[in-house]
Amino acid sequence: MPDMRVLVLTGAGVSAESGIPTFRGKDGYWRNLDPTKLATPEAFARDPQLVWDWYRERRQRIRNARPNAAHEAIAKVAQHAREFLLVTQNVDDLHARAELAKEKMVQIHGDIFVTRCSRCDFSVLERDEERQEIPRCANCAALMRPGVVWFVVGTTATFGYIIDWALRANRNGGELIEVNPEETPLSRFATRRVREPAAIALPGIVNDLTNRGAL
Ligand code: APR
Repeated sequence: MPDMRVLVLTGAGVSAESGIPTFRGKDGYWRNLDPTKLATPEAFARDPQLVWDWYRERRQRIRNARPNAAHEAIAKVAQHAREFLLVTQNVDDLHARAELAKEKMVQIHGDIFVTRCSRCDFSVLERDEERQEIPRCANCAALMRPGVVWFVVGTTATFGYIIDWALRANRNGGELIEVNPEETPLSRFATRRVREPAAIALPGIVNDLTNRGAL
């Protein structure tokens, strides 16, 4: 596989076995919480403390979590493939903590440990310490907010750009392997559907590729 070009797309499912809830799965965040009350600019304007409390609870849960075998398998592919890119919707840092090189990944929904100004482009990284008060910008004194992508109300869950990338690879003769215990809008385009949890399935898939001399 030294010749293989690999694009990996991940979402909340890859971190589920590290104890990070998904959004729409069985115990997903959006089952019990309303995203319009927590993950929109309007929600932040209405009640910034409520929003910060929720993101701080998530940050602490991520700090206490560890990358799982799926994160490690993806990091292994990144080391061996001729060309590799991970595009993740996840704002957690588990891919990076599985030693996947920063230049080989894109966090398209942002990084939960970044705190950025809600007005100017000042931002800070808060991997370890956590404050309790609502932070203010050292530059312009505006409120600081979690550095993640927020919903603009009315946006569907399945993000078109994710499907688009997968289909483009597929249209160019690429293999599209879907690893998900459940059906998704991408399933009908997949050349292979693996209905298993990621941390169970991915190490085996990567070993296969390695044994096939593709990696
Ligand atoms: N292994 C693989 N897939 C899993 C696992 C697992 N162990 N557990 C759950 N899944 C799958 C579910 O079947 C579901 O298809 O992960 C998917 C999780 O979907 P969502 O909860 O909708 O999360 P995601 O697709 O990442 O959400 C996209 O929506 O809320 C916004 O910005 C947020 O980035 C997020 C975006």
